[in-house]
Amino acid sequence: MKEALQVEPLKMNPLRKESGMKKKLTRFDLQQMKEKGEKAVWMTAYDFTTAQLAEKAGMDMLLVGDSLGMAVYGYPGTIPVTIEQSLYHTEAVRRGAPNTFVIGDMPFGSYHGSVKDAVRNAVRYYKTCNVDCIKLEGGKRAAHIIQAIADNGMLVMGHVGLTPQSTAALGGFKAQGRTAESAQVIIEDAQAVYEAGAFAMLVEAVPPEVTRMISQELPIPIYGIGAGADCDGQVMIVSDILGIFQAFTPKFVKKYANLGAEMLKVFEAYIKDVRTGAFPAAEHTYGMIEGELDRLKRLRQKQTKKARKS
Ligand code: KIV
Repeated sequence: MKEALQVEPLKMNPLRKESGMKKKLTRFDLQQMKEKGEKAVWMTAYDFTTAQLAEKAGMDMLLVGDSLGMAVYGYPGTIPVTIEQSLYHTEAVRRGAPNTFVIGDMPFGSYHGSVKDAVRNAVRYYKTCNVDCIKLEGGKRAAHIIQAIADNGMLVMGHVGLTPQSTAALGGFKAQGRTAESAQVIIEDAQAVYEAGAFAMLVEAVPPEVTRMISQELPIPIYGIGAGADCDGQVMIVSDILGIFQAFTPKFVKKYANLGAEMLKVFEAYIKDVRTGAFPAAEHTYGMIEGELDRLKRLRQKQTKKARKS
């Protein structure tokens, strides 16, 4: 007899009124959270299992970030990520977290040509992955694209400050807005993104004072990564908080575990077990149905005799 799979009830966010089933947040819930001073918590996810666990934990949003270029594909940055790669992973995350607000992250090149292509690519996230919004990088320079996508009935989250798709122009993965002039540029970028119709915005790697000004001046939810606590919520890269990503650890990361070291131990133990014969043991194998082994032996004897005769 197969045992029924035990599924624990999902953790509830106070804004999710229905009992039992976790209610997916909407832009209005996120807006209300800002107004009430409640922080939204989100992280990146790139696969089904992680998304399932994040939903179970009660994560407010999941971003299928183009950081998958580094975290999953081993590229040196986000530039090589294609829209097809991004869509595959976004689809998997949506399947794992059907009741969580999922953000599709438009990769480099998917909104850099014509406005028409940008809108068509944004549509792909909605049609293929059933996302709740798309995110794209850039301030003033991206405003016309944000406006076109928003005018076509889609939700756009902006992304200003350190924008990893333009590290060539920014001179690397560097904190932004540390001088008065560069901070003013970021604040103006944020204003342009808001005016273009973004419903929310991510601010990356800027001093907390600058983030505070943006989140106090703009009425939409402002989220931060490496941008201090004075905003409406935080996002982290999943492989950073789990301690899996090996290449480097940005200053703003808090590692909640060192799963990389744990994984290494598991892989080494498995290798050792197989090589020494400790695995698989009897409990890891399927037994034959009673009497079938004797029948098999007789069958084989018969076949051997037959083969000898012919
Ligand atoms: O791609 C990504 O993961 C991001 C992070 C900065 C959150 O945009």
